[in-house]
Amino acid sequence: MAEFDLVVRRARCATAADVFDADIGIRDGVIVALGSALAAGKEEIDAAGRWVLPGGIDGHCHLDQPTSDGSVMADDFLTGTRSAACGGTTTIFPFACQQKGQSLRAAVDDYHQRAEGKACIDYAFHLIVTDATPEVLANELPALIREGYTSFKIYMTYDDLKLSDREIIDVLAVAREYGAMVMVHAENADCIAWLTERLLAHGHTAPRYHAEARPMLVEREATHRAIAYAELVDVPILIVHVSGREAIEQLSWAHSHGLRIYAETCPQYLFLTADDLGINDGDHHGAKCICSPPPRDKANQQVVWDGLENGAFQIFSSDHAPFTFDGPQGKFAAGSEASFERIPNGIPGLETRLALLFSHGVETGRLTMQQFVALTATNVARMYGLYPRKGSIAVGADADLVIWETGLDRRIRNSDLHHGVDYTPYEGIPVTAWPALTLSRGEVVWRDGDYVGSAGRGEFLHCALPEPARPKPRPSVGDAW
Ligand code: URP
Ligand code: ZN
Ligand code: ZN
Repeated sequence: MAEFDLVVRRARCATAADVFDADIGIRDGVIVALGSALAAGKEEIDAAGRWVLPGGIDGHCHLDQPTSDGSVMADDFLTGTRSAACGGTTTIFPFACQQKGQSLRAAVDDYHQRAEGKACIDYAFHLIVTDATPEVLANELPALIREGYTSFKIYMTYDDLKLSDREIIDVLAVAREYGAMVMVHAENADCIAWLTERLLAHGHTAPRYHAEARPMLVEREATHRAIAYAELVDVPILIVHVSGREAIEQLSWAHSHGLRIYAETCPQYLFLTADDLGINDGDHHGAKCICSPPPRDKANQQVVWDGLENGAFQIFSSDHAPFTFDGPQGKFAAGSEASFERIPNGIPGLETRLALLFSHGVETGRLTMQQFVALTATNVARMYGLYPRKGSIAVGADADLVIWETGLDRRIRNSDLHHGVDYTPYEGIPVTAWPALTLSRGEVVWRDGDYVGSAGRGEFLHCALPEPARPKPRPSVGDAW
């Protein structure tokens, strides 16, 4: 009888720490051996010296998330996970979003139903806490953390999502007490409201004004405030979708003061600029790139690249938030002439995240292969409590693996993608690498251009308490609260 279900032979493996050549022996969906000349498997795949990396973990995506403005997300758990698998991602973290007035438990139950029978790769949930009632703080959050929902996002902007400063502090205190990771969307809501009002009063309604309503200073200020609250409560936090220099300076400030502030950035801050929101007032196509924070300029792109290289960022996520350009439920759900503040925020990116960073980060020499693996898989697993089951190539880890094709000469085309969106903001960008094969727990889900997964095979993952969320020991202050 064969010793392994599957052996991936002659793999050039990379982890966040090492590069090594090995055969990878897989049984029951788990890596059970790494070595040379392993015994035969029931099936064999010859990687022939190609890069074999841990499957990507996308720590930030929105699927089938209810909205409050009449728009409907273009990806559910089937199309979203299919698209992810075709781009080399094997685990995703979408959000179970609490509506104001709703219990967190109801949001989680609803979200499980949305995923049920659809996901083709594994998934866990971040919570979004929008209503920090005494019941949520004292009972619901602690209970859900204990059940494996160990990370949650809070918003400093958007009327239907944002928390007051006092509520933010209360949520951080719960995270500290129970060991959860808090992700912060840092933009100053009042500054945005004030700027938006003035822009609209002057007739500036086109998509491009979205970027003017959310300049870098509103992100810088909110980032600083979030860091201050994390310092006050003495708890690590993770700032999501950081867009440029002024926010990164706040991260550096925090690090120089010994604070554990983690950060995520996304492809839109490397590959798009505010000009992609439109140059002319009549350019409605700019709506395709409306997301928050908005893309900045070329100089900021370079600073974000520098941050990926020098460790300012721990994770690289898509922030996939899919809305069609055409159609009554997409970007113009509020009407074809909707002003910028009525256009749903978010862009697709689940499938293109890895190939963009591999091609423009690793293949250009900006990032090492180990950095790529850390940013796109290992650190994500660590930040959100899935390590070491996910995010590495190691005995005992799930056999979530990607064999990469390199040296390609192709461009990103929406017609090649598998999401439910009718465009990609990255149309035409060249890529030199793309996954040739994606394995999810030892099963092939993407091979040579064909999706071969199946709906419902993806498993829900309960997350452990993330080690990086643990507060530093406080030698002198003492645990006064
Ligand atoms: O514009 C964005 N990023 N939309 C998705 C929701 C969020 O804030 O991440
Ligand atoms: Zn956000
Ligand atoms: Zn998001």
